[in-house]
Amino acid sequence: AEPGWNETTDVVVVGSGIAGLTAALHLRERGLHVTVVTKVNIDDGSTRWAQGGIAAVLDPLDTPRAHAYDTEIAGVGLCDPEAVRVLVEEGPARIRELIRRGAEFDRHPDGSLMLTREGGHRADRIVHAGGDATGAEVQRALHAAVRRDPWIRLVEHALVLDLLRAADGRACGITLHVLGEGSEDGVGAILARAVVLATGGMGQIYASTTNPSVSTGDGVALALRAGAAVTDVEFVQFHPTSFVTSGLNSVQRPLISEALRGEGAHLVDENGTRFMVGQHEQAELAPRDVVAKGIYRVLRATGADHVFLDARHLGKEFLEGRFPTIMGSTRAAGVDPATELIPVAPAAHYASGGVRTDLRGRTSIPGLYACGEVACTGVHGANRLASNSLLEGLVFAKRIADDIGADLPAQAEPARTDPAPAWVADPAVRTELQRVMTRGAGVLRSADSLDTAAKELARLAESRATPNTAAWEATNLLTVAAALVASARTRRETRGCHWREDYPTAADEWRGHLLDSIDRDGGL
Ligand code: SIN
Repeated sequence: AEPGWNETTDVVVVGSGIAGLTAALHLRERGLHVTVVTKVNIDDGSTRWAQGGIAAVLDPLDTPRAHAYDTEIAGVGLCDPEAVRVLVEEGPARIRELIRRGAEFDRHPDGSLMLTREGGHRADRIVHAGGDATGAEVQRALHAAVRRDPWIRLVEHALVLDLLRAADGRACGITLHVLGEGSEDGVGAILARAVVLATGGMGQIYASTTNPSVSTGDGVALALRAGAAVTDVEFVQFHPTSFVTSGLNSVQRPLISEALRGEGAHLVDENGTRFMVGQHEQAELAPRDVVAKGIYRVLRATGADHVFLDARHLGKEFLEGRFPTIMGSTRAAGVDPATELIPVAPAAHYASGGVRTDLRGRTSIPGLYACGEVACTGVHGANRLASNSLLEGLVFAKRIADDIGADLPAQAEPARTDPAPAWVADPAVRTELQRVMTRGAGVLRSADSLDTAAKELARLAESRATPNTAAWEATNLLTVAAALVASARTRRETRGCHWREDYPTAADEWRGHLLDSIDRDGGL
């Protein structure tokens, strides 16, 4: 549809989590006008749900090299060492900047930052806020900073659809579905000299995820339709410990932070045995894929839908002070971690892959940048290290602003929109899609399970609906799910969080990246 309204800005940032808001603030420091568009409300993305913290070398006894080493071990041979170097070397300065912008991290009585440990880290290097409410504090601080700046325009309730392209192919804006504005079907456009995608993840392709309902892969779907390089989408990380409770009526599961294990909680099976001991030298604090697999093996052997986390020995007072979010969500469901075991199971948590970028956040389409979970900068490889995601958002948002600030062309006339989806799916398929993906392309995959998933997704993609936000979300979920299944079928090995039952080991010939694509009509 023709845009019913449009406006012009220097840079349009799509998404309002840590990556988008940090990019907006850095762009303003370079004197540029910024419009931030976000699908629902400014605080509805994944950032505010983050618990554990942000990893960075802030202890004089720790080193960027050690942080890089842990990151690359977790990434199982697929990290880009240059991107990792940038991440760990620039991380500490970005955290200090965040503190200057108003974020308040937990401190010792002497004023020094408290640092904790999570899976895969061999040093205490994770800053946190409000105990286990780090994301909420970061989102609060960035939101406040953005609100203070009259030159950052915020458009809420606006779902990005597709890229606008100049005659030479450069990105020169986006189309949007905006509630309550514009033409009848609510399509608008923002023209801009550069576009930054910071739309977050795609956890909602699964039936249980730590991600909020807005994480529907909108940015990756846009990039696939635009023909931008998208890579590593088969590497979806499952967080080992989401809270299992009956009576949840949403796909989003409460997270039980790895920091709880970092502070000494143990994973046990129904007999009280610590099953991770002996499986890996770091036991419960092994990299996340190792722990998720350890739990999954117990679940398969016992037929149960959860194992347990035992935090009782940490004591009521400590638990209440250090983990108020977790104590709140578990107690609300009738489980008291001070006296009871916490039922936990893996849930989809993080897309390690996404829209491929270089070290300056540039995608394969000139003028289009990507940052945060939507991006694949190369720092996560086959499995992201705990608490490196907020860090990646901070570090690469600044690099994007530097690049845009150094060389921003004049506004170009849009010559075309990238193919808007040739079809719009029925929102009712969302639940079925989540079941199909959990069964066929979840923690454990095989050629058979993936073939079945591919067929079922193609069937679901035959549904049609009138365009609205829910229908576009369903379309985007189908688009990214199909790309994931295609890559997962192709990658015939087990590596990081891609676990193939029929190819149980990593193979050197697969030590590379798969490019994802869809046909240019947006078909599956
Ligand atoms: C957690 O608190 O366990 C999540 C940390 C992360 O995803 O990096």
